Amino acid sequence: MSSRKLTFNIFRYDPNNPEIAPYMQPYSLEETEGMTIFVALNQIRESQDPSLKFDFVCRAAICGSCGMLINGKPGLACRTLTKNMPQVITLMPLPVFKLIGDLSVDTGSWFRHLSLKTESWIHTEKEFNPNAQEERMDNNEALKIYEAERCIECGCCIGGCATANTRDDFLGAAGINRVARFMVDPRDERSDKEYYEVVGSHEGAFGCIGLMACDDNCPMELPLQMQLSFVRRKMALIGFKV
Ligand code: SF4
Ligand code: FES
Repeated sequence: MSSRKLTFNIFRYDPNNPEIAPYMQPYSLEETEGMTIFVALNQIRESQDPSLKFDFVCRAAICGSCGMLINGKPGLACRTLTKNMPQVITLMPLPVFKLIGDLSVDTGSWFRHLSLKTESWIHTEKEFNPNAQEERMDNNEALKIYEAERCIECGCCIGGCATANTRDDFLGAAGINRVARFMVDPRDERSDKEYYEVVGSHEGAFGCIGLMACDDNCPMELPLQMQLSFVRRKMALIGFKV
């Protein structure tokens, strides 16, 4: 592989030091075989600038911490190979989320708020019996739950969503997907009307304006628009009755 000299233009800003306005800082790096944006960022931090802030944990598209705007498109740094990118790569933090510094954002608080707002736990009157045998679940039902559970909470669908970028009350694709996950779970005893209270509004299923950026940007390739249609159809039917 003939080596390229890459230029990384990286957003720099420390919200704790607002006297210094945000700016873009260029770094040069020799491309190596199999290099990802994550590898490049680590090399820059180790050899050129220890002050550079960015997040990662797993390096394997599992933890969802390394979401950022890569040449304007939300994506995971640990999964993006530089060989598929032009020689100049611009990195910005994901919008919508609170900025911690440079490329690091606080997705955790956002998703915690989402969990509380959508009441992301099984609602049941059934009393828990620790001695009972595990209950079997129909395979098809389990697969539907598993499909929605594949979300790694990276925030790429939110960062790329026009509605989430303009309205901080919008649940976004990850939120609608989360609600769909509980709707298909036979253990959850919430009625459609109760779900309507959670997502039957412009903050939820009716806030999407259909630009489909969530589907384009989800690194786990979750069928987000399909989940939205599923939830929206159910809510529309209830909406006629309430
Ligand atoms: Fe990330 Fe996809 Fe989950 Fe959105 S739905 S947070 S893009 S994994
Ligand atoms: Fe975990 Fe990229 S470091 S998803």
